[in-house]
Amino acid sequence: FAYPMPVNEPVYGYAAGSAERKQLKKVVAELKKAEADIPMYIGAEEVRTGNKVALHPPHETAHTLGYFHEGNESHVKQAINAALAAKENWAAMPWEDRAHIFLKAADLLAGKYRYQINGATMLGQSKNAFQAEIDSACELIDFLRFNVHFLSEIYKQQPNSAPGMHNRMEWRPLEGFVLAVTPFNFTAIAGNLPTSAAMCGNVIVWKPAHTQIFAAQVFMRVLKEAGLPDGVINLIYVDGPVLGNVCFSHPDFAGVHFTGSTGVFNQMWKTIGENVGNYKVYPRIVGETGGKDFVLVHKSADVDATVTALVRGAFEFQGQKCSAASRAYLPSNIAQAIKDKLVAELKTMKMGSVEDFTNFMNAVIDEKAFDRIAKYIDAAKQSSDATIIAGGNYDKSKGYFIEPTVIETSNSKYVALCEEIFGPVLTVYVYDENKFEETIELVNTTSPYALTGSIIAQDRDAIVLATEKLRNAAGNFYINDKPTGAVVGQQPFGGARASGTNDKAGSMLNLYRWLSARTIKETF
Ligand code: SER
Repeated sequence: FAYPMPVNEPVYGYAAGSAERKQLKKVVAELKKAEADIPMYIGAEEVRTGNKVALHPPHETAHTLGYFHEGNESHVKQAINAALAAKENWAAMPWEDRAHIFLKAADLLAGKYRYQINGATMLGQSKNAFQAEIDSACELIDFLRFNVHFLSEIYKQQPNSAPGMHNRMEWRPLEGFVLAVTPFNFTAIAGNLPTSAAMCGNVIVWKPAHTQIFAAQVFMRVLKEAGLPDGVINLIYVDGPVLGNVCFSHPDFAGVHFTGSTGVFNQMWKTIGENVGNYKVYPRIVGETGGKDFVLVHKSADVDATVTALVRGAFEFQGQKCSAASRAYLPSNIAQAIKDKLVAELKTMKMGSVEDFTNFMNAVIDEKAFDRIAKYIDAAKQSSDATIIAGGNYDKSKGYFIEPTVIETSNSKYVALCEEIFGPVLTVYVYDENKFEETIELVNTTSPYALTGSIIAQDRDAIVLATEKLRNAAGNFYINDKPTGAVVGQQPFGGARASGTNDKAGSMLNLYRWLSARTIKETF
């Protein structure tokens, strides 16, 4: 079964007055008042524990979207057992039948459930319609279709055979179960981590971030409707440590597919390391973690292009993309022009509810994030090393709103220039336009992360130099563009250093991690 390279799912524009916008608004209004009662999905069961946790839109915390049923240790064990019980049939199922389930799920998302998954992402994660569309519709659909394509390509690969023998590769799934631990910031990533491994014949325990459950359960229902057999993916809502205790000490633990913080990922490695020897196989540990993504501007850069890259790169979805621009290095000849234009642009950006489609900015995900980001802003207000040149205000009385904020510093080691903030805060540093090479070195050594980064320049020599010298500073490197918005099948996504294992999501590199090949030689 071969599946050709698909085309990327077209992006709906939701223009004012369009039928699409009307329909999306209608679905958002329905979802908002439905008071969802969200079970866990373990094997064939919808599990309602009665331990109900309320979900609120981050931009309207007084409103309750519904409740999810939180589980405990015993539900983690049940999920593992359900996964292991489903394993034999799932792994034995012909590839075309497995593939069809995910292709059907992609079609359901593209049609029947497009507004629902977007609406759930908008309300649950405070993403505006455009940001939801490129995530929970297009990127998730693309992940499903492109992964089917790439896996087809992998399955085709076979070794040579000398005369008198026939060699073959059997692309087996891993032995055991795979744990998917998924983040709040992309519904597409939350959907990709369990499905990419499942597609390879693995069985999954999936734990989404609590703040993403509203959209996660929509995707789970889509998978069920597409025909995913019970137990192949088990969706549970438990605390991280509870999950880790059970899964990482289980002999059938075969791997973890993770997106989240570097700290949590480091802890996972340690725990898995402590248990090594108790597992039947060496587990695969695949993770995408933090970032401190840069925009390096050369003296030859176009000012307008730079400002667009900074506004969109730093502030779309409130800067909560792991790829978001969070530090910019501006050359002295055009720094003032860039700053003036950036500050003027940000003044025109509206912030508020996702229900008003003219809002560019919405709320940050929760109170913990709000407090963390506000602390960096307060520190800048008090520091003699920093000046706030845009924004700086925040308010959590109705929702977790933080103005798009630009901090300027002349200290190349200033905290906001080095640490991941994961919010709508951009730190800018002005460098002597004649010290481009030294600044490249600064970009390379300022942070332990290496997820994304951009060079903005018209001078080809500058582009070549930055591309060469920053080879290890970003897994995704952009020339004359913002460092966000990787498209599946076009810019395989992932970072190195403290940003993860760089097993590019939505590519063969990632899928190989969920396969354990057997080589078979037969002599005649
Ligand atoms: N893939 C997203 C982007 O490129 C980040 O996770 O923005």
